[in-house]
Amino acid sequence: MKSAKTYIQENKERFLEELIDLLKIPSISADSAYKNDVIKTAEAVKVSLEKAGCDSVEICETPGYPIVYGEKIIDKKLPTVLVYGHYDVQPPDPLDLWDSPPFEPVIKKTELHPDGAIFARGSCDDKGQMYMHVKALEYMTSTGQLPCNVKFMIEGEEEVGSSSLGWFVERNREKLANDVILISDTGMIAPDVPSITTGLRGLSYVEVEVTGPNRDLHSGLYGGAVANPINVLTKMIASLHDENNHITIPGFYNDVQELSITERAKMAEAPFSKEAYKKALDIEDVYGEAGYTTNERNSIRPTLDVNGIWGGYIGEGAKTVIASKAFAKISMRLVPDQDWKKITELFTKHFESLAPKGVRVKVKPHHGGQAYVTPIDSIGYRAAEKAYEATFGKTPIPQRSGGSIPIVALFEKELKSKTILMGFGLDSDAIHSPNEHFGIWNYLKGIETIPQFYHYFTEMSS
Ligand code: BES
Ligand code: MN
Ligand code: MN
Repeated sequence: MKSAKTYIQENKERFLEELIDLLKIPSISADSAYKNDVIKTAEAVKVSLEKAGCDSVEICETPGYPIVYGEKIIDKKLPTVLVYGHYDVQPPDPLDLWDSPPFEPVIKKTELHPDGAIFARGSCDDKGQMYMHVKALEYMTSTGQLPCNVKFMIEGEEEVGSSSLGWFVERNREKLANDVILISDTGMIAPDVPSITTGLRGLSYVEVEVTGPNRDLHSGLYGGAVANPINVLTKMIASLHDENNHITIPGFYNDVQELSITERAKMAEAPFSKEAYKKALDIEDVYGEAGYTTNERNSIRPTLDVNGIWGGYIGEGAKTVIASKAFAKISMRLVPDQDWKKITELFTKHFESLAPKGVRVKVKPHHGGQAYVTPIDSIGYRAAEKAYEATFGKTPIPQRSGGSIPIVALFEKELKSKTILMGFGLDSDAIHSPNEHFGIWNYLKGIETIPQFYHYFTEMSS
């Protein structure tokens, strides 16, 4: 029987070309100007699943962008793997910081990717990683080695909060019934340090608006005599952290699960170089909550960050003006057992209370989701561990990530199954940033490792 390694070697060029074609479609879910392209991408994913051997593939309409659903059921008595991924991408801007256009993929070598990497928006997050599963399925079906049933659910709204997916899951529990959920939408520590993501942070995303006078004012005639919304907003934001970088919202930490000393010691065993981290980001020092290491700050601790802030005059030259309004977008990353809706309320109440007389404050909640932690003794985790051992020759390290995939907690609640996060991207792959890329080696290694997961999961389930 043909090995995955051989199959990949024989089909490598085609695997790359097909992914590149998918990356050329600008499926930006946040920007309605790209609506047709998002829908076109769903159709391309459907065709790819049909070619990879799914028996039936549908484009399922939702209140938002469609969900592509495909399945291959070989025997109802065998286990079922549900693969989740997303075909939408983040907006590519700022465009001028890209070395090549975001939707014209190019292959270039980098220090961490000596075999080359594909540079394009979505290459790593998540089209490239999602497509590894399509190609792994193609390998298994075309060589008669699919050991169990498989279902694919690929959505087009992950980057904007997955609201239609929740809607879809609640209405299709039976159709989506499975024994394990498999996702490649995270990262790994390094090519020679495989890891399995065991945790995701939750999220509460809000937008705030501060309104002062009813119109923009001359900053000489009125300056000093009325509250300037931008001054006020920045002062309010600055007060959200204290001198130890703790978040000052009353009750914010109430439900935070603290890790034991043993758990923290275990975490600290993962290889990490603070020097390399600083060098890669060109910063003199790291920064964050007192009492925690960098890896703790970005995974097991909750945070609050301004993602955007605007107001007033930002054109060329100077204009003397006090703007009537100032705005900011703020994300809070959450950990078990913080409840994102409760945190959104605490934030709103506190932020409103910070406003001095003379301004009005509005808080508009966007989206959110719960944090997730997966156990390392489930069949799914152990099967993934064996899969990595088979293709990397090393036992993967469990690692909690700082990112969020809000739907994962909902999957567990609605479908009652565990999610296994087999990510193959690197932190330096610049997801959400200009020059996003995905290593060719990583892409092919993913395609090679996934069938091993199916094999061990089926074997260990019986
Ligand atoms: N794939 C990422 C999440 C991710 C990346 C998790 C790397 C762990 C490691 C996902 O597409 C994403 O960007 N999620 C958003 C949240 C969403 C609600 C917009 C995020 O984390 O900002
Ligand atoms: Mn993603
Ligand atoms: Mn993303």
